[in-house]
Amino acid sequence: MASRLLLVGLLLATCSLALASDPSPLQDFCVADPMSKVLVNGVICKDPKDVKAEDFLFRGLQRMGNTSNAVGSNVTAVTVNELAGLNTFGISMARIDFAPWGLNAPHTHPRATEILTVIEGSLLVGFVTSNTENRLITKVLQKGDVFVFPQGLIHFQQNVGKGYAVAIAGLSSQNPGVITIANAVFGSNPDISRDILAKAFQTNVNVIKQIQSKF
Ligand SMILES: *[C@@H]1O[C@H](CO)[C@@H](O)[C@H](O)[C@H]1NC(C)=O
Ligand SMILES: *[C@@H]1O[C@H](CO)[C@@H](O)[C@H](O)[C@H]1NC(C)=O
Repeated sequence: MASRLLLVGLLLATCSLALASDPSPLQDFCVADPMSKVLVNGVICKDPKDVKAEDFLFRGLQRMGNTSNAVGSNVTAVTVNELAGLNTFGISMARIDFAPWGLNAPHTHPRATEILTVIEGSLLVGFVTSNTENRLITKVLQKGDVFVFPQGLIHFQQNVGKGYAVAIAGLSSQNPGVITIANAVFGSNPDISRDILAKAFQTNVNVIKQIQSKF
């Protein structure tokens, strides 16, 4: 009886671990079929007979993203949406470009841990732990340094060098998702009511109105 309970406990523990990240593949590959009308958790596989080498290829990460925007950064993502062949593999990547002082604004990936390396320039990076402490953990990274952002935590990167900076990130999901805090909170569609935001941010509705007008 006790050992059966232990077994059930162990099974539950492993299940919750498995459910916390992308499921493991059950075949060599499952190239995403973006034309499929069937909705599943992930993307339906193309017939393996129709799979081509190009399905496993993405070209263009040598190109710099356009950083002429309000925050001075640009993310070029390579997820299952850009690279069909990585369906079911639990990984993706991104190139992040920064103008001088450019910022990849505070955001979270609901489905992925991120590992990032600096290819050019130097970046101030950081993440904040959950509400038990809300501890800010930061570091200035130089070319070749590698930093990890835990799954789900709010994080950011800012170029603190004189020139452009470039980073490459790997993410532990084929579809990590991005929630940019400012955009989600102040730029939702429709707006979250100003009373709610004024109370949440301990300010008045005019301040909220002003911030909302930017998103
Ligand atoms: C990022 O760069 C690409 C390519 O230059 C551009 O098409 C896109 O609009 C840029 N995104 C932002 C948010 O500036
Ligand atoms: C970059 O984006 C800005 C703003 O959208 C645009 O005016 C500019 O032409 C773009 N530059 C390139 C090289 O595409």
